[in-house]
Amino acid sequence: MNIKGLIFDLDGVIVHTDQYHYQAWKKLADRLEIYFDEDINNRLRGISRMESLDILLENYHGNTFSLQDKEKLADEKNTYYRSLLENMMPDHVSDEVRSTLAELRNRGLKLAIGSSSKNAKLILNKVELLSYFDAISDGTNITYSKPNPEVFIKAAQYLSLSTEECAVIEDANAGIDAAK
Ligand code: BG6
Ligand code: MG
Repeated sequence: MNIKGLIFDLDGVIVHTDQYHYQAWKKLADRLEIYFDEDINNRLRGISRMESLDILLENYHGNTFSLQDKEKLADEKNTYYRSLLENMMPDHVSDEVRSTLAELRNRGLKLAIGSSSKNAKLILNKVELLSYFDAISDGTNITYSKPNPEVFIKAAQYLSLSTEECAVIEDANAGIDAAK
């Protein structure tokens, strides 16, 4: 193995936004009187907002929603989520995360983010981590989210490396499947 680049997932790896995703989905689920818990939330790790909504709606037994309705529900969740992100500050990231990223860069490795989220850059800005990464591949530049490998293939391309030269750091099963 000749690893030259590391591609980090964001939510649940670099930052604890996985908790905010849970709280935001829970708020939507409670409003719609849908059962939702941490186990269901774990199934949403790594997958897109709309795919997550479909999983949440598995426990909804009312009328079916149109695509337009679903887009509104996904927007509602994102509004809750972004209001939670407002609280994010640089001290939400431990010194250990910063020093580890800095050390990896010192060793000559290229670092990228490979995240399904469309909020990735906002989060990295808020915690002042954007400058640690050579490339960002996120929900804004992909057609298919994890477990499809697109987000990581694009991250490797942005680093000007082959996928064989990159390793992925992930918390989600969908992300591990995508990396493999
Ligand atoms: C991933 C999260 O990083 O981003 C998923 O693990 C989330 O839970 C996905 O659904 C999309 O995020 P966003 O911020 O675009 O709604
Ligand atoms: Mg994650």
